[in-house]
Amino acid sequence: MNKRVPIVIANWKLNGGIDLLCSSVAAFIGKHFSAKIAICPPYIYMRDMLNFLQHSEIIVGTQNVSKYESGAYTGETSAQMIKRAGGGLCLVGHSERRQMFHENDPSCNIKVSRALASNLMPVLCVGENLQQREAGITNDVLFRQLHDGLADVDLTNKEICVAYEPVWAIGTGQAASPEDAQLVHEYIRSELTILFGKEIAERIHILYGGSVNKTNAYELLSQSDIDGLLVGGASLDPEHFMQICLHANTHAENIESSK
Ligand code: 13P
Repeated sequence: MNKRVPIVIANWKLNGGIDLLCSSVAAFIGKHFSAKIAICPPYIYMRDMLNFLQHSEIIVGTQNVSKYESGAYTGETSAQMIKRAGGGLCLVGHSERRQMFHENDPSCNIKVSRALASNLMPVLCVGENLQQREAGITNDVLFRQLHDGLADVDLTNKEICVAYEPVWAIGTGQAASPEDAQLVHEYIRSELTILFGKEIAERIHILYGGSVNKTNAYELLSQSDIDGLLVGGASLDPEHFMQICLHANTHAENIESSK
């Protein structure tokens, strides 16, 4: 039995406007969830979402964070600013940022450290592309992303998540099978154990992302090393997102009752 209470994070990417985003989570207001639920809207909507969700348990996070603290860095938003605005987490190194905005492992490493220093939970995204998968080098890619992205990171009394998002599964409707994803998550946890020791590695949530929907969510979450989901497209559909969160909630309640 998986002992980590599941986390579901919605990554809304560059979608809006505010009415669509509010409708995606309106049903969560006033409801208790045993699973943790978070949303990552575009920066500009963060305040609006925090206000809209003030009577909910939903955590609001961001899709990115600056590697700089302050200064002449046009267009950037620092970890401290996100934290002070009420943010609880930030995605780091999403594959779309790696592919289109030149993000790399060393910059992810700085971002992870900046987030932790501001008590913002980083969610480090890792994953291989189709070419790498077909070449059979998935673990090599993940090894680099984890060891370089988390180099010299101190997790004492700090929280971090890793999100495994195979690039070939993002937005394609072709999710990894629960069994395949579990094997990769197991590998990720073994590398986290090498990096941080067993105790810390056992408490790190490893999320799966890539074409998660209401049909595959439950089975993915049933795997022992899949501790949550990072959801793109399906999180914009209110009914769909609620179903995914309810599946996570069922898992969370099972974990609670088994304690
Ligand atoms: P989809 O759920 O749309 O495949 O996107 C996944 C993702 O990139 C979440 O960060």
